[in-house]
Amino acid sequence: MACFGRSLDSPCTLALLVGFQFAFVLYFSLGGFKGLVSVLVHTTEPEFDYSRPHDVYTNLSHLGVPPPPITETYPPPPVGPVSVHLSSPLSLEDIRQRNPLVMPGGRYRPPDCEPRHHTAIVVPYRNRQTHLRALLYHLHPFLQRQQIHYSIYIVQQWGNGTFNRAKLLNVGVREALRDEDWSCIFLHDVDLLPENDHNTYTCHKQFPTHLSVAMDKFRYRLPYPQYFGGVSAVTPDQYMKMNGFPNQYWGWGGEDDDIAARVRLSGMKIVRPPVAIGHYKMIKHKGDRGNEQNPRRFDLLKRTRLNWRSDGLNSLTYELLSKQLEPLYTNLTVNIGEDPRLPPGKTSQVVRNPSAASRPAASSSLLPPPKKKKEKTAAVSPPHSTVGLCFCAFYLLCSFYRLV
Ligand SMILES: *[C@@H]1O[C@H](CO)[C@@H](O)[C@H](O)[C@H]1NC(C)=O
Ligand SMILES: *[C@@H]1O[C@H](CO)[C@@H](O)[C@H](O)[C@H]1NC(C)=O
Ligand SMILES: *[C@@H]1O[C@H](CO)[C@@H](O)[C@H](O)[C@H]1NC(C)=O
Repeated sequence: MACFGRSLDSPCTLALLVGFQFAFVLYFSLGGFKGLVSVLVHTTEPEFDYSRPHDVYTNLSHLGVPPPPITETYPPPPVGPVSVHLSSPLSLEDIRQRNPLVMPGGRYRPPDCEPRHHTAIVVPYRNRQTHLRALLYHLHPFLQRQQIHYSIYIVQQWGNGTFNRAKLLNVGVREALRDEDWSCIFLHDVDLLPENDHNTYTCHKQFPTHLSVAMDKFRYRLPYPQYFGGVSAVTPDQYMKMNGFPNQYWGWGGEDDDIAARVRLSGMKIVRPPVAIGHYKMIKHKGDRGNEQNPRRFDLLKRTRLNWRSDGLNSLTYELLSKQLEPLYTNLTVNIGEDPRLPPGKTSQVVRNPSAASRPAASSSLLPPPKKKKEKTAAVSPPHSTVGLCFCAFYLLCSFYRLV
């Protein structure tokens, strides 16, 4: 047949086309331009050996009053990977003794230099004593190694009502800024422990930062591109610009995606440390009472674009019940009210669905409910390869058509 004959006449064209197709497949399977560049140029991603971590207290005693002799090891240089102890943390008193320079309220200021960074760590909290101890044991030496002026605030939701992480964060930010002119505010889950002391607890000047990019729970990968949960940081200016965080997310999930959307809607973007540095371990636990999955989160997320200017920092109401300066942290106990959708008198303390109890908190709440399996995998897999495949199929079709 004539049509096939023509294509065989020009093997050169055919080879060229096949070559092109191959190049396209390669291009997209490597993740587009960025991936290609990183393969060719071999960008210098830092590398760490996480199989041989240091103790997080290594050489911490070098920080001391009276001022230590000027030695080469002062201040203790970052050691890279630090080991994380998840089980049976010390008592609060033991932790205090290991951190003699920490002042009441969980404050620290480098004793012999003017710190450039002033960071408030805000931790939404309720009934997680062991996690709190593990966090304090780990975070205090971790932050002192970085020569930061910092303070740790535990924002405890009073009562048995449904938990509201984002609203507690709003309260924490406001109360922390009453204390001091912090240049950076960390939004920190109580069950996440950083594994590399190069992961500095400071803010980016322009954009909100997401720190927990590689959690053991997600096999040390970002679960999806817009993920903002776990540990993140904003400057007071950035916080103001996005009108803080939503107050309407009662129960587990959705609020971190709302915050990520606010970042975008207020004209900013999310910055992140390299994956090799943003390593975190999560303390495993059963689901909390009063923190059941929020069934409204997808409806709320659809309306972020409309709501973000009116719901947030400017609509925040709460009652500060007590503020106690404990040796290792500041305890803010607040009444943030109840989920207005619940009928009066009915609290959410009963876990009705037993499977919900074993669900880990602070997960990728953008992922739709389990029944929609298809979307879930699409959200996780890199979009480049999908686009690449479509492109290749299209290209193949076109070239065949031209040949024929
Ligand atoms: C700790 O300090 C000692 C002596 O001051 C030094 O030899 C050692 O390298 C330091 N360790 C680390 C991990 O910096
Ligand atoms: C919360 O529940 C516990 C036990 O279920 C009860 O003892 C306590 O009084 C409740 N607290 C509030 C503030 O309702
Ligand atoms: C914080 O203070 C409240 C009120 O005094 C108290 O009930 C609670 O146990 C304290 N929480 C922590 C973690 O210290």
